[in-house]
Amino acid sequence: MNNDLPTSIVIFGASGDLTQRKLIPSLFNLFRKGRLPKQFRIVGYGGTAFTDDQFRAHLEEGIKEFASFKYTNEEWNDFASRLFYQQGRYDNPTDFEKLNSLLKDGEAGSGNRMYYMATPPGVFPQIVDLLAQTDQLSEEKGWRRVVIEKPFGTDLESARRLNEQIHKALNERQIYRIDHYLGKETVQNILVSRFANTIFEPLWNRNYIDHVEITVAEQVGVEHRGRFYDQVGVLRDMFQNHLLQLVSLVAMEPPVSFDASALRNEKVKVLSAIQPMKEEDVPHKTVLGQYTGYRAEEGVKPDSRTPTYAALKLQIDNWRWQGVPFYLRSGKYLKEKLSQVTIEFKEPPHLLFPNAKEYMTPNMLVLYLQPDEGIHLRFEAKVPDTVAKMRSVDMEFHYADSFGKTAIPESYERLLLDALNGDPSLFTRADEVETAWALIDPIIQAWKSQNTPPAFYEPGSWGPKEADELLARDKRKWSTWDARKE
Ligand code: BG6
Repeated sequence: MNNDLPTSIVIFGASGDLTQRKLIPSLFNLFRKGRLPKQFRIVGYGGTAFTDDQFRAHLEEGIKEFASFKYTNEEWNDFASRLFYQQGRYDNPTDFEKLNSLLKDGEAGSGNRMYYMATPPGVFPQIVDLLAQTDQLSEEKGWRRVVIEKPFGTDLESARRLNEQIHKALNERQIYRIDHYLGKETVQNILVSRFANTIFEPLWNRNYIDHVEITVAEQVGVEHRGRFYDQVGVLRDMFQNHLLQLVSLVAMEPPVSFDASALRNEKVKVLSAIQPMKEEDVPHKTVLGQYTGYRAEEGVKPDSRTPTYAALKLQIDNWRWQGVPFYLRSGKYLKEKLSQVTIEFKEPPHLLFPNAKEYMTPNMLVLYLQPDEGIHLRFEAKVPDTVAKMRSVDMEFHYADSFGKTAIPESYERLLLDALNGDPSLFTRADEVETAWALIDPIIQAWKSQNTPPAFYEPGSWGPKEADELLARDKRKWSTWDARKE
């Protein structure tokens, strides 16, 4: 497809938070790096009444607050001259006709268009319908792509319905379901670490790995999103997408090429191999928690049972992972902001050193996704001046040391660029989204039918004690690497 044509990036929901905090700073930085198409414009569409200048000023405030890079006024002014705004509703064909005329004006006959849905999810199908009705999706005069923010549905049924609705107007290859975790450098580095090195992959299986732990801990609470969050909860907000994406990258078989289909096929295969949770297993393989004080947050029901924390034990039924549990946990208001994948290796089959059991800790490979991005390998070393006492030591790789402090771009940069270049590798395919929901739905259903409240935990802790018990039953402990600091 021709990328030299004028390109319009249309953002629906342009007056919202995401546009100001993430999308525009990322697009601006791509522009500074000379990575956007030569001729492009960004058209914001939303309910707020903005003139072009007011829209630009509103976005500039966001840049000042949220951009993590330095820029000059000249760069901003150059970029800002390509920003436009149209006020409109999401159910009004006339507004969509107006949008079409505005876009056509800048296209001189042909042009590419990327439509970004940064709106509440309820209006996604409506927007796609109106774009189709007003003939804005046909690809005769340039490509048409639609980027869809999460949440993609609220359960399997609604995700299927949404897929069916949008497939009426769009081919799957035009749809880019975004999960910003896949835009994170460190998440992409999971694939590079596994498949561009020979030292890890031979060990990456049930013969050497005892278990895998994935922690995505947040230090913030629900902030100003109480009303939305209370209807969603942590399983829908974090597990169905981000955590399961991480599982699929850690556990997938090597794809035959770096091609979107090859990659996504392997991800779907591994998700399909995860045992769906049986209702009777839910009480001892899952923990839901809620931080104390959550019910008093603005927009949250005073008797809410919405979980702000969850821990799950998953089992992958295939040759590579049979018998290796995957423990996942994520929550708000935890002790630290910390996302990491810990691969804990088995004990040596025979210990020849005296009293070794007393000292030894298992070997671990920790992939630090954020903050202080990097990879640490923990292994045993002899303590000097002892007969054979040992202690674990770390071999550490920090991104900041190896690539410089500013080397890690905002995850939306990569994803926006990929969508503009037509590379869907880091976006979630229809079957992938549905397979993920098929894993999360039974857990939500079982908790509902068992009518059990979530366990409470103190803000600033590592979550409810029930989550420690989940591992203790298997004679294991959460391996929060930062135990070193505690
Ligand atoms: C979002 C969730 O998808 O991810 C938020 O909706 C969460 O609730 C956020 O805070 C976490 O993202 P990150 O990049 O800060 O780990």
